[in-house]
Amino acid sequence: MDEFKKEIIEYAESFTSDESPVLRELREHCYAQYEDKAMLSGFVQGRVLSMFSRMIRPRVVLEIGTYLGYSALCFAEGLVDGGKVITLDVNEETNKVARSFVEKSEYKDRIEFHLGNGVDVIPSLPETFDLVFIDADKPNYTNYYNLVFDKVRTGGFIIADNVLWSGKVLAPDDENAEALHSFNQMVRADDRVSNVLLPIRDGLMVVCKNWF
Ligand SMILES: C[S@@+](CC[C@H](N)C(=O)[O-])C[C@H]1O[C@@H](n2cnc3c(N)ncnc32)[C@H](O)[C@@H]1O
Repeated sequence: MDEFKKEIIEYAESFTSDESPVLRELREHCYAQYEDKAMLSGFVQGRVLSMFSRMIRPRVVLEIGTYLGYSALCFAEGLVDGGKVITLDVNEETNKVARSFVEKSEYKDRIEFHLGNGVDVIPSLPETFDLVFIDADKPNYTNYYNLVFDKVRTGGFIIADNVLWSGKVLAPDDENAEALHSFNQMVRADDRVSNVLLPIRDGLMVVCKNWF
């Protein structure tokens, strides 16, 4: 990362509200213990996800890709009373860690875990979603979008992470970059939605299901 970009990110971090102590502990645990630490949303993106949730005030959030539970805890901050975050992942090991951190948080009764493959679990969920966060295996992004679409309420949101894939979507030369570029093209061509691709961190695609 060039020096200017690093300084700008540090500046943005210094003028952003603190995360909760549990989120900080989880992030520090991840950075100290995990090689794939870049999978965790990170501080500023976490605050952005929390802020989206506070703006939307969702009753039901679906997250595809729990990892250590960081983003699930961020989304939980904006839930209405009685609301919940449903989060799913295939990885048993990371799921145990996620559960242990959620257990320590004030949201322990409001985050529901599902262990399994996204394409199998999503059709079994009876809920209607106000917000869906797609953050799992990249080749399945379009499948996840199609699987959740009819379960998202009109006026609801789908947010997908990593849609810039470190800039590789500009000239895709691997399966993930190709899948993400195709996903971005598919969303842009979908006349049922309005969308914005935010160049935050690795790229957030924010999609609203139109009511008009
Ligand atoms: C980028 S991490 C999620 C990070 C988390 N949302 C956060 O921001 O802190 C991606 C997760 O997707 C999970 N995953 C990969 N393939 C999956 C699949 N087919 N179904 C469900 N989860 C999957 C991985 O096990 C991993 O924990």
